[in-house]
Amino acid sequence: MNPTYPDLQEKHVLITGGSNGIGKALTSAFARQGAEVTILDRDYQQGLLVVDQCQQFGGKVNLYTVDLTNTSALTKTLAKIKQERPVVEVLINNAGYDPRYPLLEMSEQQWNDLFQLNVVHYFVTCRELLPGMIEAGGGSIIMTSSHVVWVAKPEMIAYNSTKAAIIGMVRSLAQAVGKHHIRVNAVAPGWIMTERQLNQWITPEAKHKNLHEQQAIPIELTPDELTGTYLFLASNTSRAITRQTLVVDGGFAQT
Ligand SMILES: NC(=O)c1ccc[n+]([C@@H]2O[C@H](COP(=O)([O-])OP(=O)(O)OC[C@H]3O[C@@H](n4cnc5c(N)ncnc54)[C@H](O)[C@@H]3O)[C@@H](O)[C@H]2O)c1
Repeated sequence: MNPTYPDLQEKHVLITGGSNGIGKALTSAFARQGAEVTILDRDYQQGLLVVDQCQQFGGKVNLYTVDLTNTSALTKTLAKIKQERPVVEVLINNAGYDPRYPLLEMSEQQWNDLFQLNVVHYFVTCRELLPGMIEAGGGSIIMTSSHVVWVAKPEMIAYNSTKAAIIGMVRSLAQAVGKHHIRVNAVAPGWIMTERQLNQWITPEAKHKNLHEQQAIPIELTPDELTGTYLFLASNTSRAITRQTLVVDGGFAQT
């Protein structure tokens, strides 16, 4: 369904959280463009399935198992990737978690743990991979934020804080690395019908309300629905776009 972007062919794309949900759809979409995709995820079994599925259409996907919240393990894994693979030209920081914690019941540990996954690993991958991108003469960094930054659900204070932090990181980093022809943008998805969302949070009533009362367009947002936005931001077609956040939520959030 996505257009073909010839400049993405042979590009090395690194995706965190590529074993499931949005990251899984992104892995397949970039592999279908002829890019070489490297997944970083702790879910080895699901990751292997993604590798297998992509191999069936000739897609090239490498899987590295790592806990992204363990900075020293993450740094070592990135060092290994830098030795074994070509430079990362497209970095997609995507893994994240969306717990519901009422503020008065939230521990400092829960707050810090969420930042470790949803923000710190985004920073660490940028710090470790940017020198290679600069040396290569350019690249595209895309970070997954959320429309919750605008919708501001009351039970998602910690999650919203992490996703707003990403937008701040994108804006300043874009200013810092633009001179090296590196673009930095965010995608802020709405409520995406991933397997985990369907198992954990989505009820028929909530889904109906989301489609018919909250989104301007009553379409079900699947992970595949998002992939075109990431491909566009990764390709040279968007070469003048940086420092932006594209909200992909069917017109729910009033930005
Ligand atoms: N699904 C939605 O409705 C939605 C909406 C807005 C934003 N987002 C954001 O999109 C991103 C992807 O979400 P998703 O819905 O696809 O989630 P998901 O749970 O379906 O997939 C997340 C992936 O990240 C991996 N992961 C999680 N913690 C990890 C860790 N510590 N180390 C290594 N890997 C880890 C998981 O194994 C999984 O493969 C997240 O940043 C999320 O906040 C999702």
